[in-house]
Amino acid sequence: MTPQHIFLIGPMGAGKTTIGRHLADLLGLSFIDVDAEIESRAGADIQWIFDMEGEQGFRDRETKVLNDLVSGTPPRVIATGGGIILNADNRAVLQCSGLVIYLSATAEQLIERTRRDKTRPLLQVDDREAVIRKLVEERGPLYSQVADLVFPSGSTQPLRLAKKLAEAVSTLG
Ligand code: S3P
Repeated sequence: MTPQHIFLIGPMGAGKTTIGRHLADLLGLSFIDVDAEIESRAGADIQWIFDMEGEQGFRDRETKVLNDLVSGTPPRVIATGGGIILNADNRAVLQCSGLVIYLSATAEQLIERTRRDKTRPLLQVDDREAVIRKLVEERGPLYSQVADLVFPSGSTQPLRLAKKLAEAVSTLG
């Protein structure tokens, strides 16, 4: 049987990695970040992958890593990249491999949080705000479609939010 992982999904800047680490600690589970695993396997950072292989090359790597991770045991807290839900197969894998938690945030909150970002290829553009607004609009319905639970992450301190998530997860048994 496929183990029941806990996935954190949501846009860039929602806090998936930080909150995911806290949540894993609180639940006594191990933590893994899909982006970090992609970089470790490639021996290169995400910007380099985008430059050399284009966004599609990155997306192929993302799908491969997701598929490998979900078949791993024991269950883990898995933080995903903001675009993982673009692929219908990825969405199906997420939905049938565990509990999917959507960390939502408003465009304004994400704009503020990613203000100094230099590592996310999609945000290294002149009009970063317009890109973020477009991503929120286009991807919001996809996050909602796969989510079992939705938590606004915008204004809550990461550890406090992780405690709320841990409580919710424990309630679900
Ligand atoms: C992306 C989000 C990033 C990373 C890549 C593409 C996206 O992950 O996977 O830069 O398409 O939203 P984070 O959401 O962890 O920043």
